Amino acid sequence: ASLIVTTREGDTYDLAATSGLSVMEIVREGGVDELLAACGGCLSCATCHVVVDSSQAAFLSPASDDEEDLLDGLTARVPTSRLACQIQFEDRLDGLRVTIAPEA
Ligand code: FES
Repeated sequence: ASLIVTTREGDTYDLAATSGLSVMEIVREGGVDELLAACGGCLSCATCHVVVDSSQAAFLSPASDDEEDLLDGLTARVPTSRLACQIQFEDRLDGLRVTIAPEA
């Protein structure tokens, strides 16, 4: 399966994506180093902010209340913003497209 990531500079990478890993882990393991992910996926830093392609956002499980609270604190939040550590990749998400959000 693949995850398609666009960086802040506009470069796009097609990364091998494993079911069960988070989108944050897939991006980092794929060698794209723009996601700081300072808390390591503990849902406390919001430095793993990505924007999901608007045509695909409905395929994802909804954000938890805690994720929503962190997203609310981001000035760069847009309607399809998510925290990449909270998106568990599944095979049905093959071809998911995300863009790394501007730094807060
Ligand atoms: Fe910190 Fe996602 S890595 S909230």
